[in-house]
Amino acid sequence: MTQMTSRAIRIEQHGGPEELQLVSVVVGEPGPGEIRIRHHAVGLNFIDVYQRSGLYPMNLPQQLGMEAAGVVEAVGEGVTHLQVGDRAAYASQPPGSYCERRVMPAKCVCKLPDAISFETGAAMMLKGLTAQYLLKRTLPQGGLQPGDFVLFHAAAGGVGLIACQWAKALGLRLIGTAGSDEKCALALANGAEFAINYSKEDFLAKVKEITAGQGVKVVYDSVGKDTWDKSLDCLAPFGLMASFGNASGPVAPFAPGILGPKGSIYVTRQTLFTHIATRESTQAMADDLFAVVSSGQVKIHIAQRYPLEDVQQAHRDLEARKTTGCTVLTL
Ligand SMILES: NC(=O)c1ccc[n+]([C@@H]2O[C@H](COP(=O)([O-])OP(=O)(O)OC[C@H]3O[C@@H](n4cnc5c(N)ncnc54)[C@H](OP(=O)(O)O)[C@@H]3O)[C@@H](O)[C@H]2O)c1
Repeated sequence: MTQMTSRAIRIEQHGGPEELQLVSVVVGEPGPGEIRIRHHAVGLNFIDVYQRSGLYPMNLPQQLGMEAAGVVEAVGEGVTHLQVGDRAAYASQPPGSYCERRVMPAKCVCKLPDAISFETGAAMMLKGLTAQYLLKRTLPQGGLQPGDFVLFHAAAGGVGLIACQWAKALGLRLIGTAGSDEKCALALANGAEFAINYSKEDFLAKVKEITAGQGVKVVYDSVGKDTWDKSLDCLAPFGLMASFGNASGPVAPFAPGILGPKGSIYVTRQTLFTHIATRESTQAMADDLFAVVSSGQVKIHIAQRYPLEDVQQAHRDLEARKTTGCTVLTL
């Protein structure tokens, strides 16, 4: 019997984009709780860069990628929410979505509504579920009400453009930051009420000006090292610093004592994988995402496409801040 194989992108060691190698891997049958899926498109995420570089260390060798969409080809014992032939999409551990087909846990794989294309599904699951848990579940005391100010860094990126639109739909006044005037214009066109080019403007001074000195209720910060200190000072008393990434490098250790004088502010570091730990929570969050995308309230902007074999260039462009919105790898 001939073995089923798949093209896949694997790293043998942590390092730069050159470590991403195209290989052929054998794909078997799904075990209990697993499915085999044939991808139609694969999503690119900044976490893939952290996993490749070793900022988030992994056992090696390792196939990369956390997001994709395709068709279910085989279903293992005990999987009841998916059937062979279903269109599906996911953001999921373990890494390994950079491939044509794979066997994987079914828990985080969701049926993809017919109205949503494979490319959109591949682009939006990890980033859209992240925007969902940030804006709906990562909240200051008393929650967020329409009219409240929030600051969202890297607002023209993959998660950023989704968050701009979703925040507007929720009635929030989102102040976005981005690294160029073109990116600021994109954030504004997608629902940010204000945009600050933090490569040339002092975002703390601008936030104080926009909010008449009051500060924002939440800072959603995925930039990390470069934005951390000033972001804390953008907060209103009892505000929430929601750290969820480190595109510029990890945040340095700090003493909790600094949080009192800044207004008894709160700090949290969130990861999607806690929120999608169960099938039920994954599906509830995905249903919310599917609803805002299907209704057109949130549009998924796929601004870059690269063939799977050009994944090195995709990583270079993402790290060099050359991308906007979402990026997919095509098969
Ligand atoms: N914790 C979670 O659950 C979770 C889930 C998903 C994503 N994330 C994080 O959210 C962020 C956005 O993810 P994404 O995939 O949508 O990526 P992205 O926003 O499309 O790309 C990252 C952006 O970060 C900005 N940035 C600022 N300083 C940078 C630097 N020194 N090097 C590179 N980029 C820099 C750039 O925008 P400007 O040029 O406009 O500054 C860049 O385009 C990432 O930090 C990611 O790790 C976290």
